[in-house]
Amino acid sequence: MSSNVTPHGGHLVDRFVTDSQASFPTSHIERVILDDIGESDLVQIATGAFSPLTGFMGEEDYRSVVLNMRLANGIIWPLPVTLPISREQAKRIAVGDAVLLVDRESIPRAWMEVTSIFQTDLQSDVYAIYLTQDTGHPGVRRTFERGPIFLGGPIHVFSTANPPHDFTQYIHTPKAARDFFQHRGWKTVVGFQTRNPIHRAHEYLQKCALEISDGLFIHPLVGPTKADDIPADLRMRAYEIVISHYYPINRVALGVFTAAMRYAGPREAILHALVRKNYGCTHFIVGRDHAGVGSYYGTYDAQKIFAKFSADEIGITPLFFDHAFYCKACGGMATEKTCPHDEHTRLFLSGTKVRAMLQAGVEPPVEFTRPETARILMEYYTRGNFSKAAEK
Ligand code: ADX
Repeated sequence: MSSNVTPHGGHLVDRFVTDSQASFPTSHIERVILDDIGESDLVQIATGAFSPLTGFMGEEDYRSVVLNMRLANGIIWPLPVTLPISREQAKRIAVGDAVLLVDRESIPRAWMEVTSIFQTDLQSDVYAIYLTQDTGHPGVRRTFERGPIFLGGPIHVFSTANPPHDFTQYIHTPKAARDFFQHRGWKTVVGFQTRNPIHRAHEYLQKCALEISDGLFIHPLVGPTKADDIPADLRMRAYEIVISHYYPINRVALGVFTAAMRYAGPREAILHALVRKNYGCTHFIVGRDHAGVGSYYGTYDAQKIFAKFSADEIGITPLFFDHAFYCKACGGMATEKTCPHDEHTRLFLSGTKVRAMLQAGVEPPVEFTRPETARILMEYYTRGNFSKAAEK
């Protein structure tokens, strides 16, 4: 093992098979087309990011996860990882079959042993998972769109299927991250999840955490997000520039997390923490409204949910941060915990206001966004992406 951090469930899953081992019955085999979320989940399972999952969830695990946030064997797992299929296709597949999983370009990516075919009641499931049935919630909407019928079973992923993304220059597997941390001699590593451009509040949390750990693993999510989130390549560019100018380069690692965003707030915060444990992190940052969207979740719900589980079971230490802001009277970043002044001294810019500034070619204050980031975002907005929303 390349790091001392025990992966979730005990060992790091590896579901890749070499092409010569990829023997499976090809004649008359049913082909199941993966959607964007399915393609990205497949990679998370194959690389062990989703350890201990070895495939798409069968009915027993699915129901247990929805109801109890645990797999059927009791191990914590907060969100379903499913392979939806159409009703017509479900009629042609039986438990015990092998099916070929192909991507949206019809390229075979894996084969699966079908151990479960099931239908569920999405109305009640989405409420349990997302705490709302509102289809204005992007995670709820996607869940309904994907439908109520699922195939479950272990997968065997063709190695040529990796990596299916554009960010190959960054650390993208748990194994690579673990090797990197060990090579650097980092005993404590704090992981940071993000789906937004880097702002000063993010930098503040990261640097506070870096004060008490050996290394910082910045791990932006670059998998499927809702259409109005800022594209991942721009976010990565901003990170590269900001890291090169303002971070101690030998104490920071930049990776990519190719998973899909679920916007499930509290439950997704648990998933994000467990995945970073699989990547070899010892600590994980959870700030305000982690993985939330709109006003579906309370500001600190994603922190409170950790109290439902024992520290041993979670196996990675969450670092909770209050809402961070720039305080003009303090002359620096602060939170309610450290700033004695009232809110008039605090720089607060709504997402809408920041977008309007960027679209108009006006740089937001340096206390909010570094000019390096602002320029990348301004270029994006002034290219005509006017209707796009930047952040939640
Ligand atoms: S997320 O959907 O990936 O959580 P985002 O990229 O906005 O979204 O946030 C990344 C992390 O930074 C999350 O842990 C979030 O809670 C935290 N965060 C973002 N902004 C702030 C802030 N102003 N104060 C405290 N925490 C924040």
